[in-house]
Amino acid sequence: MSKRPVLTTEAGAPVSDNQHSQTAGPSGPVLLQDHHLLEKLARFNRERIPERVVHAVGSGAYGTFEVTSRDVPRYTRMKLFSEVGKKTEVFLRFSTVAGSKGAPDTARDPRGFGVRFYTEDGNWDLVGNNTPVFFLRDGIKFPDFIHSQKYDPYTNSQEPDNVWDFFSYSPEATHQFTWLFGDRGIPATLRHMDGFGSHTFQWVNAQGERFWVKFHFKTDQGIRILTTQEAEAIGGKEPQHHQRDLYRAIERGEFPSWTLKVQVMPEAAAVNYRFNPFDLTKVWPYKDYPLMEVGKLVLNRTPDNFFADVEQAALDPANFVPGIGPSPDRMLQARLFAYGDAHRYRLGINSTQLPVNSPRGVKGGARNYGRDGAMRLDGNGGRGPNYEPNSFNGPVQTDEAPGVGYEVSGVTGAYVHGKHAEDNDFVQAGALYRLMTEPEKQRLVENISGSLAQVSREDIISRAIAHFRAADEEYGSRLATAVQKLRHAR
Ligand code: HEM
Repeated sequence: MSKRPVLTTEAGAPVSDNQHSQTAGPSGPVLLQDHHLLEKLARFNRERIPERVVHAVGSGAYGTFEVTSRDVPRYTRMKLFSEVGKKTEVFLRFSTVAGSKGAPDTARDPRGFGVRFYTEDGNWDLVGNNTPVFFLRDGIKFPDFIHSQKYDPYTNSQEPDNVWDFFSYSPEATHQFTWLFGDRGIPATLRHMDGFGSHTFQWVNAQGERFWVKFHFKTDQGIRILTTQEAEAIGGKEPQHHQRDLYRAIERGEFPSWTLKVQVMPEAAAVNYRFNPFDLTKVWPYKDYPLMEVGKLVLNRTPDNFFADVEQAALDPANFVPGIGPSPDRMLQARLFAYGDAHRYRLGINSTQLPVNSPRGVKGGARNYGRDGAMRLDGNGGRGPNYEPNSFNGPVQTDEAPGVGYEVSGVTGAYVHGKHAEDNDFVQAGALYRLMTEPEKQRLVENISGSLAQVSREDIISRAIAHFRAADEEYGSRLATAVQKLRHAR
């Protein structure tokens, strides 16, 4: 007799035939009473959930973070950094931003680098990218920016007109565009790129001293890139190229790793820094704030089921733990709302109980008075009290001061960002251009002009080129020449 388990309906009843529908006689129509058939079809119809509105294409893996530096507690009381050798389980989801599910993961696009640390104080999510900066510095522009990058409402394709039109009115994106169209805009694999927390965050130590911090994950595999032509050829043949490479490397036991480093700025230094240190379109130069090593992140386990752990992962920049908090970065502030809201829509209010999302580092898991909601998976608090304060031994607050926070002043209003000496949009874009070798500059100009030359309107092209010219005169002139050449060749 077969040792294989018996196939059942969703209610657990044995299924006698999974190959033939019930019919009225051998040649007649299908019967409505065939519950197994109806259940199978109905369930299938409901397999898709809304894809992420951005970062829909992704892959994920589990691993471990281990502290290698004893210096970190000087700056933060985050328990995961408390001693050398301390290990914390992590989940990392990589992604591309603009494409919908199924789009090639080799596209020229920032890569999401979303790390979840399952700490004993709860989940800490550092939901960053493979770029240290971003296109914008204010979250109010994010929906418009993404509309310009994703599929056009009429053509249902990504349109160079929309990308460059939006850019031409958003000079603050010049730095990130230079990054994106440069060599690092397409990594060779997900293992051969760096990751960044990108924003400035706040750290608070046990003495209550506050610092500003930026996170950098430096790949231990070295940086490797794909040219536009290589990426197009690979993506055309194998749209899940990066996903496959990641899984195969881990299956071979070649565990990819990153060294976590930080830049730390004393709280008071922010006021007179040469540019606004909370501006996401800027990096902090290493000569001002050198990198300090913290630990190593290793990915060593592929999830058994993509949908369960990767599609249902709900990473949230608002997931902080004691010792870290937000800065006044306007982008970060907008994100503190956006992700939880997206999860409640995409996955539902109880998605925090799914294995990938539950705070598995916390003894006893999450404890609070939230109850009910669609698809409650656990015991829903059982007979315990569902209100607070109570006299029935329910969980209580710690009464410990959170420590994070900063002084604010001024009148509420919609303000233009920045009043520091170097708050302009072009200084760092120009510096990045001038850092490149001649072949790198050449590829950058080819990549931008190849896209810009497809734009239908001259005014959009000239506004866009003016931004690159403002960053560096030579950069702008080379682009203008290359675009005109391509347009005349048509
Ligand atoms: C995903 C909004 C800026 C990195 C998402 C999602 C939303 C969103 C709604 C989908 C979340 C989900 O359904 O699970 C925003 C808004 C932003 C912003 C409103 C600006 C105010 C950024 C920035 C970064 C970033 C600056 C990186 C520095 C990511 C990553 C994901 C993501 C990595 C994928 C998370 C995952 O793997 O599940 N964003 N985003 N986003 N975003 Fe943002």
